[in-house]
Amino acid sequence: MSGVTFDEVTKRFGDTTAVENMSLEVADGEFMVLLGPSGCGKSTALRMIAGLEEVSDGMLSIGNRVVNNIPPRERDIAMVFQSYALYPHMSVRKNIESPLVANRANRLPAGERSERIDEAAEVLGLTDYLDRKPGELSGGQRQRVALARAIVRRPEVFLMDEPLSNLDAKLRTQTRLELVELHRRLRTTFVYVTHDQVEAMTMADRIAIINDGHVQQVGRPQEVYDRPANLFVARFIGSPPMNTISGTVGTSGTGGNVATEAGVVAVAELSGSRAGDEVVLGVRPEYLKPRDPSKDDPGAGGLRARVENIEMLGHERHLLTRVGNEVMVARLDPALPPPSIGDEVVLEADAANVYLFDPSTTERLGSGTSTPTATVVADG
Ligand SMILES: Nc1ncnc2c1ncn2[C@@H]1O[C@H](COP(=O)(O)OP(=O)(O)O)[C@@H](O)[C@H]1O
Ligand SMILES: [Mg+2]
Repeated sequence: MSGVTFDEVTKRFGDTTAVENMSLEVADGEFMVLLGPSGCGKSTALRMIAGLEEVSDGMLSIGNRVVNNIPPRERDIAMVFQSYALYPHMSVRKNIESPLVANRANRLPAGERSERIDEAAEVLGLTDYLDRKPGELSGGQRQRVALARAIVRRPEVFLMDEPLSNLDAKLRTQTRLELVELHRRLRTTFVYVTHDQVEAMTMADRIAIINDGHVQQVGRPQEVYDRPANLFVARFIGSPPMNTISGTVGTSGTGGNVATEAGVVAVAELSGSRAGDEVVLGVRPEYLKPRDPSKDDPGAGGLRARVENIEMLGHERHLLTRVGNEVMVARLDPALPPPSIGDEVVLEADAANVYLFDPSTTERLGSGTSTPTATVVADG
């Protein structure tokens, strides 16, 4: 087994730079998810590992070997795509076997091939389907055949490009669990590409968040959620996304406030900013609570908001509000009586869970700022 290292890797297609100066170390045996919006360069990064795209600049290694000039078939990788492209006329068994017989010159003996097929089928729950044709399987089963076909080779690195996108929601959730379990059993390095932050959060050991060809942050799921490096990560991870509004820092030192067009918000820690600084204030929906302003004492802080819509999801309620020029969402306990559409409310932010960002660099200000201590996990 081995890890994968991008060392300042750039990929250009003519005038388009798909991946720029990417440095990323995927550890041996790690489940790394490359997460980002469509067109950010995820597939290109994965295809460079596979050898399907040439590296324009920088160095790409699998294990200790620089692979820039190594052809795909000499790289010990297996790749699974969104469209699983099975051979329709061949049985499941033959499909799974296909990579083992592709190279006539160094085929495994039939006995060993058969052992490997049985093992892969067992791991993926396909034992009873080996004699069927792909057309006689459900979408989820077909995707599992594609996975079995990948693992039968016992590669050093698995590459997966949005492999669950064609499955319906229920099957996607189930297959997510199966992939995590598969990784736990195989302990092989996985590099998994998705635009779906829920997939990334639920499966990854670590997530590399990519935007516009650049790595924004690399960290464990809870880490990137609690301590986003910048506004892009803050808004991309979490659903509904983090609310943001511009403001000016009112007091310096630890503890203070930020004045916005819709009111003043108390902030537990202002490290990294000073009185008078322009900032972008961020609060996740779970840390915003609506208050009835008619019962207010006039000095109390909060954001004046108007309720525009209420979405009931069963386990939670989303309050969609207008705050100045922004739309802000509060996530509410469905057991509590909600305000009504059209109501004027004050949104109170939990001071310990307010984030501040530099509006020019978009970087998050402060170090431990806003990280709920209970969820911080030590590195390593
Ligand atoms: N073969 C290609 N030729 C030209 N441009 C490409 C090619 N492949 C990808 N690109 C461009 O590179 C960028 C990144 O694409 P891609 O890696 O497919 O993004 P993602 O997988 O994150 O959606 C996009 O702007 C895309 O149009
Ligand atoms: Mg893609």
